[in-house]
Amino acid sequence: MIMKTIFLFLILFVYSGSFVSAQNNIVINTDLGTEIINKHIYGHFSEHLGTCIYGGYWVGEDSKIPNTAGLRNDVVDALKEIGIPNLRWPGGCFADEYHWMEGIGLRNERPTMINTHWGGVTENNSFGTHEFLELCNQLECEPVICGNLGSGSVREMSQWVEYLNSGNVSPMTELRKVNGQEEPWSVKYWGVGNENWGCGGSMTVEYYTNEMRRYSTFTKNYGDNRLYKIAGGPNSDDYHWMETLMKDGNPGRSFQGVSLHYYTICHNWNKKGSATMFDENEYFTSIKKTLFMDELLEKHIRIMDKYDPNNRVGLVVDEWGNWHDVEPGTNPGFLYQQNTMRDAMVASVNLDLFNKYARRVKMANIAQTVNVLQAMLLTKDDQLVRTPSFYVFKMYKVHHDATLLPSNITSENYTVGSESIPALSATASKDANGKIHVTITNLNPNKEMEVTCDLRGVEKVTFEKGSLITGEKINSFNDFGKKEEISLVSFNDVKVNGNKVSVHIPSKSVVLIELK
Ligand code: AHR
Repeated sequence: MIMKTIFLFLILFVYSGSFVSAQNNIVINTDLGTEIINKHIYGHFSEHLGTCIYGGYWVGEDSKIPNTAGLRNDVVDALKEIGIPNLRWPGGCFADEYHWMEGIGLRNERPTMINTHWGGVTENNSFGTHEFLELCNQLECEPVICGNLGSGSVREMSQWVEYLNSGNVSPMTELRKVNGQEEPWSVKYWGVGNENWGCGGSMTVEYYTNEMRRYSTFTKNYGDNRLYKIAGGPNSDDYHWMETLMKDGNPGRSFQGVSLHYYTICHNWNKKGSATMFDENEYFTSIKKTLFMDELLEKHIRIMDKYDPNNRVGLVVDEWGNWHDVEPGTNPGFLYQQNTMRDAMVASVNLDLFNKYARRVKMANIAQTVNVLQAMLLTKDDQLVRTPSFYVFKMYKVHHDATLLPSNITSENYTVGSESIPALSATASKDANGKIHVTITNLNPNKEMEVTCDLRGVEKVTFEKGSLITGEKINSFNDFGKKEEISLVSFNDVKVNGNKVSVHIPSKSVVLIELK
């Protein structure tokens, strides 16, 4: 009799659908949030590379393309749509070859050079310090400037900061005024070199740590502005670099942030794989390699916790994203790639991980905003394309400066061949108005999913609105002159019962639900 009752109960349980829901469940602790998701996690990076700066932002005042002070209006407007909080510039590898004084003064008198890193093209320096700060002004975002430690001098870096930030009487301040900027810009975020283990000087960490301390000493604070200096951190899983920098680099004084670079590369550096022509195995590999970010963050943060138990130094993931082969027929040095639903998933998974480690991750910058790598926008002459990644950043705006709600995710697996990964990735946060936002990614391209959210700490919630990003295929993308295939559309496949919310998520999609 007892056995019969248990059997009947099991049958009922499975058929009621509870079994399916229990498998995909997010317990959201609405009353336990202590960490703020820094809006700077949603930052961007733009280098003098390919057509990111020239053509992407800068067209010059005489261009037929509508512009304000030489900067494309369509690009500025689109980036404001995603609430761009900061922009890192001028590189990348370019930063450690950049001599800022060549990019100020009358444009027709600025020297012309060769961009040896990226395509060997002519760089005429028409986009320099003033143009970059005008761009940030139009975007209403914080500038993040990376100084040249690799091939510059301490004096050059020190004078750049003085030129930007000093309100005192000094030759640099006078020069700035002569060039048309009366007031200091008060730039806060300052990179002390880039990838100094590689293109930034091929240094050992021991050598870099000493150099960074020296450069940092002479990059001064002016007025009330306090620099947030970002030390050049490790490449991917180089834990020795992090350990040495944190041990000997004078954390919290010589630097307030440490960078980490990790790109998702489907195959390998020699053959990365096509941005648009890939199969499910390659899709799976890209997502799996993206999930490695979890381990990277966890291990680097453990080292940081050891030397900086009071959490004074932020982890700054200032280069991340998908790196594919360039589009056929384009300059291999320009890193121009299309952007599909796979890129949208790589973006949402990375952002969920940065949110998860919000206690330590204070900034991140996807590479590289316009026309380069995992871009938000693609331009061709006067045309503009918003990529699937753009829409993820637009959707995730709700998490900017919101309180992270600690969540436990139970997920079914997504399996390809003999390998499996969790099919779900998610972030829950509460904004200043008390609204709860949950973003959920269903990584499985073959299966829709019923996900139950249990909101602990409240008795009931109401569903306010939702949005969805999905595509017909994992390699669907938006292209010039065609109707957008992927965008942000309204979503309401949600059922609420007290504090339980059941969400029906299509395959290969990212959804946002807003609850009150
Ligand atoms: O984003 C492209 C390049 O990748 C950057 O210039 C460099 O920092 C990294 O290796």
